[in-house]
Amino acid sequence: MRLRRKPWVDEAIHDFKFVYPKDAPAGENERGRWHEIFGSASPLYVELGTGKGDFITRLAERERGKNFIGIEAQQDVLYSAAKKVAEAELMNVRLLVFDINMIENIFAAHEVDGFYINFCDPWPKKRHAKRRLTGRAFMEKYARLLKAGGKIFFKTDNRPLFDWSLEEFAAMSLDVTNISYDLHAENDPMNIETEYERKFSGFGEKINRCEVTFP
Ligand SMILES: C[S@@+](CC[C@H](N)C(=O)[O-])C[C@H]1O[C@@H](n2cnc3c(N)ncnc32)[C@H](O)[C@@H]1O
Repeated sequence: MRLRRKPWVDEAIHDFKFVYPKDAPAGENERGRWHEIFGSASPLYVELGTGKGDFITRLAERERGKNFIGIEAQQDVLYSAAKKVAEAELMNVRLLVFDINMIENIFAAHEVDGFYINFCDPWPKKRHAKRRLTGRAFMEKYARLLKAGGKIFFKTDNRPLFDWSLEEFAAMSLDVTNISYDLHAENDPMNIETEYERKFSGFGEKINRCEVTFP
């Protein structure tokens, strides 16, 4: 998701106290302290690559007994998400401008109950495979941060990425359930569409979904 750079966002994003902007990022101060920061011991779920925030906003509205953190590298994009969270007056959301590669700097071991990975960049070239968020190196990081029985919820329109990811999960002997190769055909009333999901399903692309449980 590339937007034309909006320099005013760097100032305006400070209006949202629940956002950790790029000039005051989350780090050691927050690591292991998210329950304290939210002021509740509710389960903690993290969305990786939040984009413009439709998903996290609707999920946090529906599941007020859980806390949610959205991570997004592009501040301009996260600004759109912040406006939605503010409008919905949600107290159970924090948004971080942050690079997922460094995720172990902001969460302690076993601090997270689940990760959502929605329509992550597919990095189709073989030489870029290591950048895919569902690859082994990332999964090993998530495994260290997740509680026992923690989950990854994964959706993508990209079938080659989905098949490759399932192979990665199998190679790690992870338990994979709820596999769908055409999620929208199931008419699941609990499914919350992301911006990319709406766009690609609108083009007729099938949506793939699975859940991975860590031992
Ligand atoms: C294809 S978009 C999907 C956005 C949203 N999840 C959706 O489904 O509409 C992927 C998003 O992940 C973000 N992203 C990619 N790599 C990232 C990284 N290493 N750290 C943080 N965000 C990242 C991109 O900036 C982009 O907004």
